[in-house]
Order: sequence, then structure tokens, then C-alpha cells
Amino acid sequence: FDVPVPQNEPVLNYGPRSIERAALKAALAEGRAQVTDIPMYIGGQEVRTNKTIEVRPPHDHKHLLANAHEGDASHVKAAIDAALAAKANWENLPWEQRAAIFLKAADLLAGPYRAQINAATMLGQSKNAYQAEIDAACEFIDFLRFNVLYMTEIYAQQPLSSKGMWNRLEHRPLEGFVFAITPFNFTAIAGNLCAAPALMGNVVVWKPAPTQLYAANVIMQVFNEAGVPPGVINLINVDGPVAGDIIFSHRDFAGLHFTGSTHVFQNLWKIIGNNISNYRSYPRIVGETGGKDFVLAHPSANAEVVATALVRGAFEYQGQKCSAASRAYIAKSLWPAVKEKMVADLATIKMGPTEDFENFVNAVITEASFDKLAKYIDEAKANPDAEIVAGGTYDKSVGYFVQPTVIEVKDPYYVTMCEELFGPVLSVYVYEDEQFEEVMSIIDNTSPYALTGSIIAQDRYAITQATTRLRNAAGNFYINDKPTGAVVGQQPFGGARGSGTNDKAGSMQNLLRWTSPRTIKETF
Ligand code: NAD
Ligand code: ALA
Repeated sequence: FDVPVPQNEPVLNYGPRSIERAALKAALAEGRAQVTDIPMYIGGQEVRTNKTIEVRPPHDHKHLLANAHEGDASHVKAAIDAALAAKANWENLPWEQRAAIFLKAADLLAGPYRAQINAATMLGQSKNAYQAEIDAACEFIDFLRFNVLYMTEIYAQQPLSSKGMWNRLEHRPLEGFVFAITPFNFTAIAGNLCAAPALMGNVVVWKPAPTQLYAANVIMQVFNEAGVPPGVINLINVDGPVAGDIIFSHRDFAGLHFTGSTHVFQNLWKIIGNNISNYRSYPRIVGETGGKDFVLAHPSANAEVVATALVRGAFEYQGQKCSAASRAYIAKSLWPAVKEKMVADLATIKMGPTEDFENFVNAVITEASFDKLAKYIDEAKANPDAEIVAGGTYDKSVGYFVQPTVIEVKDPYYVTMCEELFGPVLSVYVYEDEQFEEVMSIIDNTSPYALTGSIIAQDRYAITQATTRLRNAAGNFYINDKPTGAVVGQQPFGGARGSGTNDKAGSMQNLLRWTSPRTIKETF
């Protein structure tokens, strides 16, 4: 199977006088100058209702960016019907045709839609230009291109045959439709959760997070222009449980492709379990969920490497990456140097709206998230066992701004060391140098999650020890780096335990979940 060999999409740098920055600024200005009308997309039709929800930039909540049409149970049913109606033609299309559509989508994102999808991600989700570029452009493009290669590798793996007999595996799509539920924090995840099952011949009903609708609208435009046929991917904007009631009780529900919180995922799994005898096939359940990601610094670590890993790992995109470093365990002998460097670096960080390219930190996604973070910060301020080392302020008068905050705790089980806060708050526990082994037990037992983690050390024995001892504490484990920033094709991404089914987004493992192989034996 000869397909274009993918290369990771280069990250553009948006320097002050670059044409990329000029194009992005123009797209941002255009986005701001109008109130966008966001329809649902069902069976290739734009669907509007008489009820809309307002979309506002988290960094400027007085500005109305868009009105998104909201549907009800009838729209969920219509989306399922449209998906099932499109199924036969789509799955019978030769794989090259499906591949060509998604390769074209990648090219559209890399070229004509790049500024628009980045601007939408900046305005709707408050990412800075660099964070938008690595997500909405590069990672999304990589998912699309690498998945085409992985699909052909799956198709190429065939059983043994012998004289007089030809055995083959036919990678059929699932019998039914796939439900994709996507989170606010990555535009690429949204695109991939729809495109991966569709590439394998499945039809999809997609419910993006309400806080992601602005970029989701652009994703649908890209898919349409690339030639995804009507009904293959249907976007609904319907209250979660209303959609869930219909979808999870439908006989043809065949798979859930979910990224979101652990709590919601577990609830959905229970609902699916309760309906299990109603389905035609056992549904595939693929979920990437929460994290409480760690950085462990050994006494032998380079303090600068630790400080940089923490600042970038904890505070890029306001700590709203499932992979974000949110708990650090630093050896006592190292802590003064790490603290000094981290506090100095944080003092230079600018916070403000995404449209000002100087700002490293922008707003958190919603008022609810802001209020939750403010509560944890206030509790830490009032607690004698916790000390705010940096940050600690917040302001929601214009946007939901929370200053990058570092809390040093005396108790390694302090609440902010255990719970997923999903914001720019890093908790640090300083351990005695000789307690390295003990601290690894604490890391392994503190949280129900196992998504990402880092060991920072120069001592090879310490690196080996941590890599072995923390084998089950992270699905993505980093040595001498921050625990964020996995690149498609290089670090397949996903976690286990409470962090998900670990089907590694953008990988062959993930694509295999969207096929139901048929074995064919032919005798001559
Ligand atoms: P969320 O779990 O709060 O929301 C998930 C979605 O589920 C929402 O759109 C909601 O409407 C929908 N929903 C709820 N009940 C439903 C039901 N009964 N039927 C159908 N739909 C229903 O998550 P979020 O705020 O979108 O995202 C944040 C979370 O995502 C964080 O916990 C983060 O760690 C996680 N995340 C994980 C990864 C990963 O790869 N592990 C990546 C990104 C985000
Ligand atoms: N894939 C994203 C990262 O690695 C979540 O940071």
C-alpha cells in the first residue's frame, strides 16, 4: 500500500513581522468583527433552531463571538438516522478514497484554513498563537496524515496462506455508528475523535463540548470542503444527557470515542453497561480521561531543567492539558535553586488576551473553572501547611484570568496534590534527598490517574529505578523533560488506570478499535 510518507507538520513561528502573524491577525480581526452563526451539521445540512447558546472568548467574556444553535432529542435522532443512511456507501468506498478525503483535509488545514482554525482556537478556547499552532494546525494535521499510513499498515497485516488456500482479514467498520464526545482543550482531539473512526469506514455522531463549538464549526467546514460525504460526520449541539439517553439506548450504537473527565466517562460506561443487551454488537469504548501528572526531581537533577519543565509543563495553556504537570516532588537539596529559577521565570511571564502575542498565559475556560481554582488558592492561603510560592492572584472582571500559582505543601497528600484542578496551579512537595524510594510510592498511590509523568535526574540508577518503579503510574513517561507535548508518530499518547483505556490517540492501536475484522478462508 503506497501512501504519502508523513512528516510531522512544521510548527510556524509567528514572529513579529512574519506573513504568518499577519494572516493570523487578519483572521482574529475577522472573527471578532462579526457574530458567527454556528449551525449543527446533520446529513450534510446546516441545521438551525430557535434556541441558541452564546459563545464568548474566555479572556473577554463581554464580547459576543457567536451564537450556536442548540438542538433537542429530535436532532439526535436525525443525526443517528443520517449517519446510518450514509453508512453503506461510505464503508463500500475503496479505502484510497477515504484516505484521499482526509489527506485533503490535512492539506486544507496546513494551507488555506490554517489561520482560521488557529484564530478560532485562540478566540474560542483562549490559546496563545503557539499553543493554537501546535494543536489546531500541527497535531490535527499529523493525526490525519499518520492515521492514513497506520490504516494501510493494518490492512497489510494478513494471515498466512498456503497452496490451495487463501486466508485474509477484512477490516470491516463497526456495525452501527460511533458517538464522539470531545473536550474543550484540544481542537486536534476533536478532529481526530471523528476522523479516526470515519477513516476506518465508520459513520459518526459528534457532540463537541459547548466551549469548543467555535473551532468545531471550522472543523466541519474543513471536513465538508475535503469531501466527507453528507451524514458521515454529524455535529450535534445538544445537552449531554439528552443526547446520551437516545444514543446509548439505540440498537446500532457501536462505539464511544470519548475524551473528557474520568467522572463522566465512568458514568457513560455504566449507562452502556445497563443497556448492553439492547445492542446489536458489544460497543467499543475508547476513552481518554483525567490526569494528575507528576514531575519527580532526583537530587542529581539539573535545577534549570527542572524549573523549565515545571514552568512549561504546568502553565502552558493555563495548565488545561490533561498532561499538565500539576504535582511536583523535588529533592530538598535541589529546591532552593529550582524555586529561585522558577519564581524568576514566572515573574517574566505575561498574562492577558490571546490576541496580544506577548502573552504566555491567557484565561481559563469558564467562570466555573475560574471559581473552582480561586477556591483552592484561597484555601491554600488560609492553610498553615501550604505556602504560596508564586502567583496566587486572580481576576475575572474582563476574562477568567488566574495567575500561574505554585503552592508548596508540607503534606504530600494535601488536596491539591491529589485532585485534578485543570488550571494553572502547581503543587510542590519537597522531600528529603534520601527519601527517593519512599516518594515514588507516594507518587504511585496518591491519585487514581496514570496519564503522564517525568523523572528528572542525571544519575542513571535513579532514572532506571523511577522508570521501573513508576511503570504503571503514567501511560506517557518522560525522562529529563516536561510531561506534556506528545507528538503524533513520536510519542503515542494515552494513559491507563483512571486516565483512560490507553488506546493511544493517533496510533494503530486506536484505529484497530474501529474495525471488526472478518476472517475469510478461500479454498481453491
Ligand atoms: P467533561 O467530562 O466535563 O465533559 C464531557 C462531555 O460529556 C460534555 O460535553 C458533556 O455534555 C458530555 N456528557 C455528560 N453526560 C453525558 C451523557 N449522559 N451522555 C452524553 N454526553 C454526556 O470534560 P471536559 O470539560 O470537556 O474536558 C476536560 C476533561 O478532559 C479533563 O478531565 C481532562 O483531563 C480531560 N482530557 C483528557 C485527555 C486525555 O487524553 N486523557 C485529553 C484532553 C482532556
Ligand atoms: N497530547 C497532549 C500532550 O501531550 C495532551 O500534551
